[in-house]
Amino acid sequence: MSRINAHYLDLPGSYLFAEIARRVQEHGARDPQKRVIRLGIGDVTAPLPPSVISALHQAVDEQARQEGFRGYGPEQGYAFLREAIVRDAYQGLGIDPDDVFIGDGAKEDLGNFQEIFDQGCLVAITDPVYPVYADSNVMAGRAGPADSLGRFQGLIYLPCTADNNFRPDLPRRRPDLIYLCYPNNPTGAVLSRDDLARWVGYAREQDCVIFYDAAYEAYITEPGIPRSIYEIPGAREVAVEFRSYSKTAGFTGLRCGFAVVPSSVRGRGPGNALVPLRDLWLRRQTTKYNGCPYIIQRAAEATHTPQGKKETRAIIAGYQENARRIREGFQTLGLTVSGGVNAPYVWVRLPTGLDSWGFFDALLNRLGIAGTPGVGFGPSGEGHFRLTGFGTSADTQEAMERLKGFNI
Ligand code: MLT
Repeated sequence: MSRINAHYLDLPGSYLFAEIARRVQEHGARDPQKRVIRLGIGDVTAPLPPSVISALHQAVDEQARQEGFRGYGPEQGYAFLREAIVRDAYQGLGIDPDDVFIGDGAKEDLGNFQEIFDQGCLVAITDPVYPVYADSNVMAGRAGPADSLGRFQGLIYLPCTADNNFRPDLPRRRPDLIYLCYPNNPTGAVLSRDDLARWVGYAREQDCVIFYDAAYEAYITEPGIPRSIYEIPGAREVAVEFRSYSKTAGFTGLRCGFAVVPSSVRGRGPGNALVPLRDLWLRRQTTKYNGCPYIIQRAAEATHTPQGKKETRAIIAGYQENARRIREGFQTLGLTVSGGVNAPYVWVRLPTGLDSWGFFDALLNRLGIAGTPGVGFGPSGEGHFRLTGFGTSADTQEAMERLKGFNI
């Protein structure tokens, strides 16, 4: 028998959203009459924007002609897309198309990027947190076993609760790697420019690397909130940024995202020598990845055109309106909610004594609404519940109708 990577045994039995899907399916089998409204996993529901569809068609047709056919593409992504990204999202921020790596989604890049660091690196994550950051480090052997609350002994947890406005305090112990996600999944909180500058300053001073997940930047509605960590001076030396087309342009099924790895972000090699992360990530990608499909990259490129931007903005506005309705629905029940203003996620505080899986079951069984229990994102998420604005407008309105008068 071959020995397995035993760190996998330290993981929770199933991935959070797989567990939710299982419970929803079980409920469907028990009560097939009641249609479940799914506001759990942040999966989009609006069809792809017309510009994306026509770019896909055109790219598919190119594949039928000898002169348009493409085989393997560049592992880092086609220059047309990397250049469009820099023009559209990083103008004036000192980012070069060579710093951009096209991938098949932020989840994949965020899960994989830790591979280029030593197993002994100490990792800090916020709590609650998108489970991929924790789980991928568990798999890599950096987290050790979990305690009875599901807290991994080897990770640094940065609690984000109502007490700190869901904005983490700087760690008391120095980590090597810090995961930050803003606008935040799951709490919907944002960091001000000053907050983010504090993190960049800390990382520079303490020689840490920040993994900055900006998958939800398109949901920022309030002025003055940074969309990219590179808006903060000095971030180009300490931060890698991850973005996604999933929540901006409906690519959860198509799969496309990118990582920005400026050549000036470095880690420590043997003898403490400074090594650019960009070189290592390129080496990793060229070995393990053959690149996002050409037709998908052409579709992603279409979202950076003026027409594509107009279309994606309209879709996002629809999801933002859903989030507003959800906020209002739960507030009407007398509950405290946060998020949902600069993010598609609404974070509901449950009445004292109610646990989040208990609330999940009650909402599912009594109203046929699936959300996400806060504790699934980490121990500090207990007593909270997450809903997403990514449903259809009709489903969101129906969910809020069902919620009226709900006796918690
Ligand atoms: C979520 O619901 O947290 C997201 O859909 C997860 C993801 O993007 O992978």
